[in-house]
Amino acid sequence: MKAKDEITAHESSITAGECAGSAEQIELKFVEGGAELLDTVRPLWKKLNALHAEKSPHFAEAFAKTSFLKRKVELENKAITGQLLVILAITKVHECIAYCVCSVGKESSVSGAGRVGEIDSMFILEPYRRQGIGRKFVKRCMAWFQKNEAEKVIVFVGVGNEEVLEFYKTFGLLPLAHV
Ligand SMILES: CC(C)(COP(=O)(O)OP(=O)(O)OC[C@H]1O[C@@H](n2cnc3c(N)ncnc32)[C@H](O)[C@@H]1OP(=O)(O)O)[C@@H](O)C(=O)NCCC(=O)NCCS
Repeated sequence: MKAKDEITAHESSITAGECAGSAEQIELKFVEGGAELLDTVRPLWKKLNALHAEKSPHFAEAFAKTSFLKRKVELENKAITGQLLVILAITKVHECIAYCVCSVGKESSVSGAGRVGEIDSMFILEPYRRQGIGRKFVKRCMAWFQKNEAEKVIVFVGVGNEEVLEFYKTFGLLPLAHV
């Protein structure tokens, strides 16, 4: 059965951590689903791609040329060959301010084939960063990886975006290779 069928979109409400320097709290609704949610992430994905283009010292042009449709097809294929989870964080006024996409697929190596969980894409609008939303996304991904029997977890971080390594380090995800 494909991921699209396995994951039923469902919602849950949370209050993200306090905003830095104030007691204000944002109420967010987390929506989980499969590839059918990908179109919703398009505007935020475009911002992520622009960020990569800005930060990448060597591949700015390649990032600029990458289209959302191409990326969407890649992620849809992951849903077909494995499982895909899309998580959206939605404000009270129905604005999607952050998303995370993760997948589970098969990887073959000399030691055989294993199930690999991958955090494929994640972006949080700047004013909402450092309030624990990224942490909530990764926790949800990790629980989903466990449920889907992933034996290891990987994430690719673009060159130039190394500050994100500190974020992943807090979950025990450590850099393995620079390519
Ligand atoms: C990376 C990102 C997803 C983190 O999300 P976030 O909601 O801001 O992170 P959290 O608030 O959950 O942070 C959890 C912890 O990770 C660490 N952390 C998060 N962002 C960090 C940063 N920029 N530098 C160093 N440590 C960081 C901190 O230890 C933080 O805990 P603290 O705030 O109590 O110190 C977010 O900054 C983002 O969307 N960045 C732009 C897009 C991007 O780079 N995506 C990743 C592509 S691989």
